[in-house]
Amino acid sequence: MKAEDWLKLDWLKTNDAERLKKLFQAADAVRRENVGDAVHLRGLVEVSNYCAANCAYCGIRVGNPSVRRYVMTQEEVLASVRLARSFGYGTVVFQAGETPHHLPTEWVAELIQTVRAESDIAVTLSLGERPRADYEAWFRAGANRYLVRFETSNPELFSRIHPGHVGLAARVEALRTLRDVGFEIGSGVMVGVPGQTWGDLQNDIAMFRQLDLDMIGVGPFLPHPATPLGRQFAEQAGRYAEDPQQVPNDERTTLKVVALTRLVCPKSNIPSTTALAVVDKQAGHEHGLACGANVIMPNVTPPKYRECYEIYPSKATTGEAAEIYDRQLKQRILALGRTIGTGAGMSHRFAEAVASARKN
Ligand code: 5AD
Repeated sequence: MKAEDWLKLDWLKTNDAERLKKLFQAADAVRRENVGDAVHLRGLVEVSNYCAANCAYCGIRVGNPSVRRYVMTQEEVLASVRLARSFGYGTVVFQAGETPHHLPTEWVAELIQTVRAESDIAVTLSLGERPRADYEAWFRAGANRYLVRFETSNPELFSRIHPGHVGLAARVEALRTLRDVGFEIGSGVMVGVPGQTWGDLQNDIAMFRQLDLDMIGVGPFLPHPATPLGRQFAEQAGRYAEDPQQVPNDERTTLKVVALTRLVCPKSNIPSTTALAVVDKQAGHEHGLACGANVIMPNVTPPKYRECYEIYPSKATTGEAAEIYDRQLKQRILALGRTIGTGAGMSHRFAEAVASARKN
């Protein structure tokens, strides 16, 4: 089947057991052919939870006064990076709220330089939209990738859930700028945001393809009680469940999106996300990996900060120490017949683009 055929709405909406099996098996086969059996592990460092944005779904939005705010010191970040290296991870991901004030451009650049001087671990940034000059400074300092989800391809829904943001077009432009600066770029959406229709979700997947992304992260919307969207979801749960246009925020729908994303973007890196592992604590990660995913991002943030980085409920409660979680995670991956990725795990799409640019 051609990639376009998977973009049809009936694949996204199907709940027929046979068709789901066909979809998931096709995605798994395309994953194996294009990116192999390796599961790449990226150590997530939640550098700061300060945030100037007020996203209606996010627990660390500026409008949530009950969050205890922090910024990690450079030494603490470096200790987390060393922990990730001790586990053999090929990449660290620095994530934070949108907080230019608390994460000055130079401070981040210096941190990146130090990390890149210590080892060849790849650095991914997830620090929100910033001026082009910041992206350039960080790329020059040695950062390799940048993640910024567009969250939804519906401009009207985007504006509704991002009060104060200029709009979806600017978010998409940020991705183009990042690519132009030289980064591998990652993006993604949430599944089941109140007001998201099946047609929206279909357009989201089409947009992944259009943007030709290196990495695509997809997770279920998880209602956070201290946010406007979380409260709205709790109050109107019955109405959402009955609305045939409303996309459910459940595991099955998320897995369908992961599978279709793999079929439409065969060479991209696709994580089995933490949010997916929250809706299904037993086997969310395994299910993601079986439906097209090839990346997991274990948290290496010090425990004392983790509990303050609650973008959605249960995010922080992995329970075990990082060492124990790491060992168990690797066993789970091997038990699926997959291997643990080595090296930086650059996207196959990016590697091929670089090689062909060199030829021309
Ligand atoms: N539920 C699920 N995902 C969320 N994110 C933020 N808040 C939530 C939530 N309540 C996701 C967004 C963001 C990423 C860092 O986390 O997609 O881009």
